[in-house]
Amino acid sequence: MQTVTLNNGVEMPIIGFGVFQIPDNETQAAVEAALAAGYRHLDTAASYGNEEAVGAAIKASGIAREDLWITTKLWIQHNPTGSVEDDTKRAFDNSLRRLGLDHLDLYLIHQPLGDYYSKWRAMQQVYKDNRVRAIGVSNFHPDRLVDLIDHNEITPAVNQIETHPFHQRAFDQELMKEQGVQIESWGPFAEGKNDLFTNPLLSATAEAHGKSVAQVVIRWLTQREVVVIPKSVKPERMAQNLDIFDFTLSDEQMSQIGTLDTGSSLFFGGLLSLGVAGTAAVALAGCTDATSGPAAEASSRTTAPTGSARQPTDEAPRALARPRCGSSARGGGPVGTRGASAACMKQPTRGR
Ligand SMILES: NC(=O)c1ccc[n+]([C@@H]2O[C@H](COP(=O)([O-])OP(=O)(O)OC[C@H]3O[C@@H](n4cnc5c(N)ncnc54)[C@H](OP(=O)(O)O)[C@@H]3O)[C@@H](O)[C@H]2O)c1
Repeated sequence: MQTVTLNNGVEMPIIGFGVFQIPDNETQAAVEAALAAGYRHLDTAASYGNEEAVGAAIKASGIAREDLWITTKLWIQHNPTGSVEDDTKRAFDNSLRRLGLDHLDLYLIHQPLGDYYSKWRAMQQVYKDNRVRAIGVSNFHPDRLVDLIDHNEITPAVNQIETHPFHQRAFDQELMKEQGVQIESWGPFAEGKNDLFTNPLLSATAEAHGKSVAQVVIRWLTQREVVVIPKSVKPERMAQNLDIFDFTLSDEQMSQIGTLDTGSSLFFGGLLSLGVAGTAAVALAGCTDATSGPAAEASSRTTAPTGSARQPTDEAPRALARPRCGSSARGGGPVGTRGASAACMKQPTRGR
Protein backbone atom coordinates (compact mmCIF):
# COMPACT_ATOMS: atom_id res chain seq x y z
CA MET A 1 0.00 0.00 0.00
CA GLN A 2 1.25 3.45 -0.94
CA THR A 3 1.81 5.69 2.08
CA VAL A 4 2.22 9.38 2.86
CA THR A 5 4.80 10.62 5.35
CA LEU A 6 3.33 12.74 8.12
CA ASN A 7 5.11 15.72 9.69
CA ASN A 8 6.52 13.51 12.47
CA GLY A 9 7.95 10.96 10.02
CA VAL A 10 5.18 8.39 10.54
CA GLU A 11 3.98 6.59 7.38
CA MET A 12 0.19 6.57 6.87
CA PRO A 13 -1.54 4.33 4.27
CA ILE A 14 -3.00 6.56 1.56
CA ILE A 15 -6.23 4.53 1.32
CA GLY A 16 -8.40 3.46 4.24
CA PHE A 17 -11.90 2.23 4.94
CA GLY A 18 -14.50 4.61 6.44
CA VAL A 19 -17.35 3.36 8.62
CA PHE A 20 -19.58 6.42 8.99
CA GLN A 21 -23.30 5.52 8.67
CA ILE A 22 -22.70 1.78 8.79
CA PRO A 23 -25.19 0.62 11.45
CA ASP A 24 -23.52 -0.68 14.57
CA ASN A 25 -24.90 -4.20 14.06
CA GLU A 26 -23.49 -4.34 10.50
CA THR A 27 -20.12 -2.77 11.20
CA GLN A 28 -18.22 -5.84 12.39
CA ALA A 29 -19.11 -7.81 9.24
CA ALA A 30 -18.33 -4.82 7.00
CA VAL A 31 -14.94 -4.21 8.63
CA GLU A 32 -14.09 -7.92 8.53
CA ALA A 33 -14.89 -7.88 4.79
CA ALA A 34 -12.80 -4.74 4.31
CA LEU A 35 -9.82 -6.31 6.09
CA ALA A 36 -10.25 -9.45 3.98
CA ALA A 37 -10.28 -7.25 0.87
CA GLY A 38 -6.90 -5.86 1.89
CA TYR A 39 -7.64 -2.64 3.82
CA ARG A 40 -5.24 -2.06 6.68
CA HIS A 41 -6.38 1.47 7.53
CA LEU A 42 -9.73 2.03 9.28
CA ASP A 43 -11.45 5.34 10.02
CA THR A 44 -14.07 5.53 12.76
CA ALA A 45 -15.17 8.08 15.38
CA ALA A 46 -16.69 8.15 18.84
CA SER A 47 -19.73 9.83 17.29
CA TYR A 48 -20.33 6.96 14.82
CA GLY A 49 -21.29 4.67 17.69
CA ASN A 50 -19.49 1.70 16.15
CA GLU A 51 -16.00 1.71 17.68
CA GLU A 52 -16.74 -1.52 19.59
CA ALA A 53 -17.79 -3.27 16.39
CA VAL A 54 -14.63 -2.03 14.64
CA GLY A 55 -12.61 -3.38 17.56
CA ALA A 56 -14.37 -6.74 17.38
CA ALA A 57 -13.55 -7.01 13.67
CA ILE A 58 -9.90 -6.15 14.31
CA LYS A 59 -9.72 -8.83 16.98
CA ALA A 60 -11.47 -11.43 14.83
CA SER A 61 -9.16 -10.73 11.88
CA GLY A 62 -6.05 -11.85 13.75
CA ILE A 63 -4.06 -9.23 11.80
CA ALA A 64 -1.01 -8.03 13.71
CA ARG A 65 -1.58 -4.66 15.35
CA GLU A 66 1.55 -3.18 13.77
CA ASP A 67 0.11 -3.92 10.31
CA LEU A 68 -2.99 -1.79 10.97
CA TRP A 69 -3.64 1.94 10.95
CA ILE A 70 -6.56 2.92 13.21
CA THR A 71 -8.01 6.43 13.29
CA THR A 72 -10.75 7.59 15.59
CA LYS A 73 -12.07 11.03 16.52
CA LEU A 74 -12.82 13.04 19.61
CA TRP A 75 -16.39 14.26 19.78
CA ILE A 76 -17.41 17.69 21.08
CA GLN A 77 -16.78 18.02 24.81
CA HIS A 78 -19.23 20.03 26.88
CA ASN A 79 -17.03 20.63 29.88
CA PRO A 80 -19.24 18.52 32.16
CA THR A 81 -16.53 18.04 34.78
CA GLY A 82 -15.04 21.52 34.52
CA SER A 83 -11.93 20.40 32.65
CA VAL A 84 -12.05 19.88 28.91
CA GLU A 85 -8.49 18.56 29.10
CA ASP A 86 -9.50 15.84 31.58
CA ASP A 87 -12.60 15.04 29.54
CA THR A 88 -10.51 14.74 26.39
CA LYS A 89 -8.13 12.30 28.06
CA ARG A 90 -11.11 10.31 29.33
CA ALA A 91 -12.65 10.31 25.85
CA PHE A 92 -9.37 9.01 24.42
CA ASP A 93 -9.29 6.23 27.04
CA ASN A 94 -12.91 5.35 26.28
CA SER A 95 -12.26 5.11 22.54
CA LEU A 96 -9.27 2.86 23.15
CA ARG A 97 -11.37 0.66 25.46
CA ARG A 98 -14.20 0.40 22.93
CA LEU A 99 -11.73 -0.46 20.17
CA GLY A 100 -9.91 -2.97 22.38
CA LEU A 101 -6.55 -1.34 21.61
CA ASP A 102 -3.65 -0.08 23.69
CA HIS A 103 -2.71 2.73 21.31
CA LEU A 104 -4.10 4.58 18.31
CA ASP A 105 -2.39 5.51 15.07
CA LEU A 106 -4.29 8.78 14.60
CA TYR A 107 -6.60 10.73 16.90
CA LEU A 108 -8.48 13.69 15.43
CA ILE A 109 -10.51 16.55 16.88
CA HIS A 110 -13.72 15.85 14.96
CA GLN A 111 -15.02 19.42 14.79
CA PRO A 112 -13.54 22.85 15.52
CA LEU A 113 -16.23 23.49 18.10
CA GLY A 114 -16.09 24.41 21.77
CA ASP A 115 -12.79 24.69 23.62
CA TYR A 116 -10.64 22.93 21.10
CA TYR A 117 -7.49 24.57 22.48
CA SER A 118 -7.91 22.55 25.69
CA LYS A 119 -8.68 19.46 23.65
CA TRP A 120 -5.49 19.98 21.66
CA ARG A 121 -3.38 20.43 24.83
CA ALA A 122 -4.72 17.11 26.12
CA MET A 123 -4.04 15.43 22.79
CA GLN A 124 -0.48 16.78 22.78
CA GLN A 125 -0.06 15.06 26.15
CA VAL A 126 -1.41 11.67 25.02
CA TYR A 127 0.91 11.95 22.02
CA LYS A 128 3.90 12.66 24.28
CA ASP A 129 2.86 9.68 26.40
CA ASN A 130 3.28 7.52 23.25
CA ARG A 131 -0.35 6.41 23.26
CA VAL A 132 -1.00 7.66 19.72
CA ARG A 133 1.35 7.82 16.75
CA ALA A 134 -0.05 11.05 15.34
CA ILE A 135 -2.65 13.67 16.30
CA GLY A 136 -4.69 15.85 14.00
CA VAL A 137 -7.93 17.65 13.32
CA SER A 138 -10.98 17.41 11.09
CA ASN A 139 -13.23 20.00 9.47
CA PHE A 140 -10.80 22.84 10.26
CA HIS A 141 -10.86 25.69 7.77
CA PRO A 142 -7.57 27.46 7.03
CA ASP A 143 -8.09 30.28 9.53
CA ARG A 144 -8.70 28.01 12.50
CA LEU A 145 -6.01 25.60 11.40
CA VAL A 146 -3.35 28.30 11.20
CA ASP A 147 -4.53 29.76 14.52
CA LEU A 148 -4.18 26.35 16.20
CA ILE A 149 -0.74 25.81 14.67
CA ASP A 150 0.54 29.27 15.60
CA HIS A 151 -0.45 29.02 19.26
CA ASN A 152 0.41 25.44 20.14
CA GLU A 153 3.47 23.27 20.42
CA ILE A 154 2.55 20.46 18.03
CA THR A 155 1.31 21.02 14.48
CA PRO A 156 -1.58 18.71 13.55
CA ALA A 157 -0.32 15.87 11.36
CA VAL A 158 -3.60 15.61 9.42
CA ASN A 159 -6.72 17.66 8.65
CA GLN A 160 -9.60 15.44 7.48
CA ILE A 161 -11.98 17.57 5.39
CA GLU A 162 -14.74 17.15 2.81
CA THR A 163 -12.85 16.65 -0.46
CA HIS A 164 -14.29 15.23 -3.71
CA PRO A 165 -14.60 16.23 -7.39
CA PHE A 166 -17.26 18.84 -6.64
CA HIS A 167 -15.36 20.38 -3.70
CA GLN A 168 -11.69 19.93 -4.46
CA ARG A 169 -10.00 22.04 -1.74
CA ALA A 170 -6.91 22.97 -3.79
CA PHE A 171 -6.36 26.15 -1.79
CA ASP A 172 -6.75 24.31 1.52
CA GLN A 173 -4.37 21.60 0.36
CA GLU A 174 -1.74 24.14 -0.69
CA LEU A 175 -1.96 25.95 2.62
CA MET A 176 -1.80 22.68 4.56
CA LYS A 177 1.24 21.63 2.57
CA GLU A 178 2.99 24.88 3.52
CA GLN A 179 2.11 24.22 7.16
CA GLY A 180 3.14 20.54 7.09
CA VAL A 181 -0.40 19.20 7.52
CA GLN A 182 -1.52 16.19 5.46
CA ILE A 183 -4.91 16.57 3.75
CA GLU A 184 -7.30 13.63 4.15
CA SER A 185 -10.57 13.43 2.21
CA TRP A 186 -13.85 12.50 3.80
CA GLY A 187 -16.79 11.85 1.49
CA PRO A 188 -14.57 11.09 -1.53
CA PHE A 189 -17.67 10.16 -3.56
CA ALA A 190 -19.68 13.03 -2.08
CA GLU A 191 -21.82 10.14 -0.82
CA GLY A 192 -23.12 9.91 -4.41
CA LYS A 193 -24.54 13.44 -4.39
CA ASN A 194 -24.70 15.44 -7.63
CA ASP A 195 -25.04 12.11 -9.50
CA LEU A 196 -21.31 11.61 -9.06
CA PHE A 197 -21.38 7.96 -10.18
CA THR A 198 -23.00 8.86 -13.53
CA ASN A 199 -21.20 12.14 -14.14
CA PRO A 200 -20.44 12.25 -17.92
CA LEU A 201 -16.84 13.43 -17.61
CA LEU A 202 -15.98 10.95 -14.85
CA SER A 203 -17.76 8.17 -16.78
CA ALA A 204 -15.84 8.92 -19.98
CA THR A 205 -12.56 9.00 -18.07
CA ALA A 206 -13.43 5.69 -16.41
CA GLU A 207 -14.30 4.13 -19.75
CA ALA A 208 -11.01 5.28 -21.24
CA HIS A 209 -9.14 3.32 -18.55
CA GLY A 210 -11.52 0.35 -18.28
CA LYS A 211 -12.21 1.39 -14.69
CA SER A 212 -15.24 2.56 -12.69
CA VAL A 213 -16.08 6.13 -11.78
CA ALA A 214 -15.32 5.28 -8.15
CA GLN A 215 -11.85 4.09 -9.14
CA VAL A 216 -11.21 7.25 -11.17
CA VAL A 217 -12.18 9.39 -8.16
CA ILE A 218 -9.91 7.47 -5.77
CA ARG A 219 -7.10 7.57 -8.32
CA TRP A 220 -7.57 11.32 -8.85
CA LEU A 221 -7.40 11.95 -5.10
CA THR A 222 -4.35 9.75 -4.50
CA GLN A 223 -2.54 11.28 -7.48
CA ARG A 224 -3.07 14.59 -5.67
CA GLU A 225 -1.52 12.93 -2.58
CA VAL A 226 -4.81 13.17 -0.71
CA VAL A 227 -5.41 10.39 1.84
CA VAL A 228 -8.80 8.83 1.15
CA ILE A 229 -11.19 6.66 3.21
CA PRO A 230 -14.10 5.49 1.01
CA LYS A 231 -17.01 3.71 2.66
CA SER A 232 -18.92 0.76 1.22
CA VAL A 233 -20.85 -2.12 2.74
CA LYS A 234 -20.43 -4.18 -0.45
CA PRO A 235 -17.33 -6.42 -0.62
CA GLU A 236 -16.99 -6.10 -4.42
CA ARG A 237 -16.96 -2.30 -4.10
CA MET A 238 -14.49 -2.46 -1.21
CA ALA A 239 -12.12 -4.41 -3.45
CA GLN A 240 -12.75 -2.10 -6.42
CA ASN A 241 -11.99 1.01 -4.36
CA LEU A 242 -8.56 -0.41 -3.46
CA ASP A 243 -7.72 -1.51 -7.00
CA ILE A 244 -6.52 1.83 -8.33
CA PHE A 245 -2.76 1.49 -8.61
CA ASP A 246 -2.60 -0.11 -12.08
CA PHE A 247 -3.50 3.02 -14.06
CA THR A 248 -2.57 6.69 -14.11
CA LEU A 249 -4.67 9.71 -15.00
CA SER A 250 -2.94 11.98 -17.50
CA ASP A 251 -2.26 15.64 -16.72
CA GLU A 252 -5.07 16.49 -19.13
CA GLN A 253 -7.52 14.17 -17.35
CA MET A 254 -6.48 15.60 -13.97
CA SER A 255 -7.14 19.12 -15.31
CA GLN A 256 -10.48 18.10 -16.80
CA ILE A 257 -11.62 16.71 -13.45
CA GLY A 258 -10.47 20.01 -11.98
CA THR A 259 -13.26 21.72 -13.92
CA LEU A 260 -15.90 19.90 -11.84
CA ASP A 261 -15.02 21.92 -8.75
CA THR A 262 -17.87 24.08 -7.45
CA GLY A 263 -15.79 25.52 -4.62
CA SER A 264 -18.60 24.77 -2.18
CA SER A 265 -19.57 22.09 0.27
CA LEU A 266 -22.30 19.67 -0.75
CA PHE A 267 -23.11 19.08 2.91
CA PHE A 268 -23.27 22.56 4.42
CA GLY A 269 -25.34 24.35 1.80
CA GLY A 270 -24.37 28.00 1.54
CA LEU A 271 -22.65 27.92 4.91
CA LEU A 272 -19.25 27.06 3.69
CA SER A 273 -18.76 30.35 1.94
CA LEU A 274 -19.28 31.88 5.36
CA GLY A 275 -16.49 29.86 6.90
CA VAL A 276 -16.32 27.35 9.66
CA ALA A 277 -17.88 29.79 12.09
CA GLY A 278 -21.09 29.25 10.18
CA THR A 279 -20.87 25.52 10.63
CA ALA A 280 -20.20 26.01 14.29
CA ALA A 281 -22.99 28.50 14.79
CA VAL A 282 -25.58 26.34 13.13
CA ALA A 283 -24.37 23.15 14.75
CA LEU A 284 -24.42 24.81 18.15
CA ALA A 285 -27.88 26.12 17.49
CA GLY A 286 -28.82 22.52 16.76
CA CYS A 287 -30.10 23.45 13.35
CA THR A 288 -29.04 21.75 10.20
CA ASP A 289 -30.62 20.35 7.13
CA ALA A 290 -27.78 17.96 6.50
CA THR A 291 -28.85 14.36 7.02
CA SER A 292 -25.29 13.14 6.99
CA GLY A 293 -21.79 14.50 7.13
CA PRO A 294 -20.34 16.39 10.05
CA ALA A 295 -23.17 18.90 10.37
CA ALA A 296 -25.59 16.08 11.05
CA GLU A 297 -23.08 14.46 13.35
CA ALA A 298 -22.77 17.74 15.16
CA SER A 299 -26.46 18.37 15.40
CA SER A 300 -27.07 14.99 16.96
CA ARG A 301 -24.53 15.61 19.65
CA THR A 302 -24.77 19.18 20.81
CA THR A 303 -26.61 18.46 24.02
CA ALA A 304 -26.18 15.69 26.53
CA PRO A 305 -28.89 13.04 26.65
CA THR A 306 -31.65 13.75 29.14
CA GLY A 307 -30.52 13.11 32.68
CA SER A 308 -26.85 13.02 31.86
CA ALA A 309 -26.05 16.70 31.69
CA ARG A 310 -23.07 16.26 34.02
CA GLN A 311 -21.68 13.22 32.27
CA PRO A 312 -18.71 13.22 29.93
CA THR A 313 -20.09 13.32 26.42
CA ASP A 314 -17.63 11.36 24.39
CA GLU A 315 -19.84 8.31 24.38
CA ALA A 316 -21.39 7.11 21.17
CA PRO A 317 -24.20 9.41 20.11
CA ARG A 318 -27.85 8.92 20.72
CA ALA A 319 -30.19 10.10 18.00
CA LEU A 320 -31.45 13.23 19.67
CA ALA A 321 -34.42 15.07 18.30
CA ARG A 322 -33.07 18.41 17.22
CA PRO A 323 -34.92 21.40 15.86
CA ARG A 324 -34.41 21.59 12.14
CA CYS A 325 -33.99 24.68 10.08
CA GLY A 326 -36.88 25.59 7.83
CA SER A 327 -37.42 22.89 5.24
CA SER A 328 -37.01 25.33 2.40
CA ALA A 329 -33.34 25.63 3.31
CA ARG A 330 -32.68 22.17 1.93
CA GLY A 331 -30.96 22.14 -1.38
CA GLY A 332 -30.18 25.78 -1.59
CA GLY A 333 -29.01 29.00 -0.09
CA PRO A 334 -27.49 29.85 3.19
CA VAL A 335 -29.33 28.59 6.23
CA GLY A 336 -30.96 31.50 7.92
CA THR A 337 -31.95 33.18 4.72
CA ARG A 338 -34.45 30.62 3.47
CA GLY A 339 -37.12 29.88 6.00
CA ALA A 340 -34.87 29.13 8.95
CA SER A 341 -36.29 29.39 12.45
CA ALA A 342 -35.15 32.08 14.86
CA ALA A 343 -32.75 29.68 16.54
CA CYS A 344 -31.17 29.04 13.18
CA MET A 345 -30.52 32.71 12.65
CA LYS A 346 -27.35 32.58 14.75
CA GLN A 347 -25.26 33.43 11.76
CA PRO A 348 -21.54 33.78 11.45
CA THR A 349 -20.14 37.21 10.79
CA ARG A 350 -16.79 36.11 9.54
CA GLY A 351 -15.87 35.27 5.95
CA ARG A 352 -13.60 32.56 4.77
N1 LIG B 1 -14.56 13.90 9.64
C1 LIG B 1 -15.81 14.02 9.27
O1 LIG B 1 -16.53 14.94 9.67
C2 LIG B 1 -16.39 12.99 8.34
C3 LIG B 1 -17.63 13.21 7.72
C4 LIG B 1 -18.12 12.25 6.85
C5 LIG B 1 -17.38 11.09 6.60
N2 LIG B 1 -16.18 10.88 7.24
C6 LIG B 1 -15.37 9.66 6.99
O2 LIG B 1 -15.19 9.50 5.58
C7 LIG B 1 -15.65 8.23 5.18
C8 LIG B 1 -16.16 8.25 3.74
O3 LIG B 1 -17.17 9.21 3.57
P1 LIG B 1 -18.71 8.84 3.48
O4 LIG B 1 -18.93 7.51 4.09
O5 LIG B 1 -19.46 9.99 4.03
O6 LIG B 1 -19.07 8.79 1.95
P2 LIG B 1 -18.40 8.30 0.57
O7 LIG B 1 -17.28 7.35 0.84
O8 LIG B 1 -18.15 9.50 -0.26
O9 LIG B 1 -19.58 7.55 -0.14
C9 LIG B 1 -20.13 6.37 0.34
C10 LIG B 1 -21.25 5.97 -0.64
O10 LIG B 1 -20.68 5.56 -1.89
C11 LIG B 1 -21.16 4.26 -2.21
N3 LIG B 1 -20.04 3.55 -2.85
C12 LIG B 1 -18.87 3.19 -2.29
N4 LIG B 1 -18.07 2.61 -3.20
C13 LIG B 1 -18.76 2.58 -4.37
C14 LIG B 1 -18.45 2.09 -5.67
N5 LIG B 1 -17.28 1.52 -5.95
N6 LIG B 1 -19.40 2.23 -6.63
C15 LIG B 1 -20.59 2.81 -6.37
N7 LIG B 1 -20.94 3.29 -5.15
C16 LIG B 1 -20.01 3.18 -4.16
C17 LIG B 1 -21.57 3.65 -0.89
O11 LIG B 1 -22.61 2.71 -1.07
P3 LIG B 1 -22.51 1.19 -0.49
O12 LIG B 1 -22.07 1.29 0.95
O13 LIG B 1 -23.91 0.69 -0.65
O14 LIG B 1 -21.52 0.49 -1.36
C18 LIG B 1 -22.08 4.86 -0.13
O15 LIG B 1 -23.42 5.13 -0.49
C19 LIG B 1 -16.72 7.92 6.23
O16 LIG B 1 -17.12 6.57 6.24
C20 LIG B 1 -16.04 8.39 7.49
O17 LIG B 1 -15.10 7.44 7.94
C21 LIG B 1 -15.69 11.83 8.10
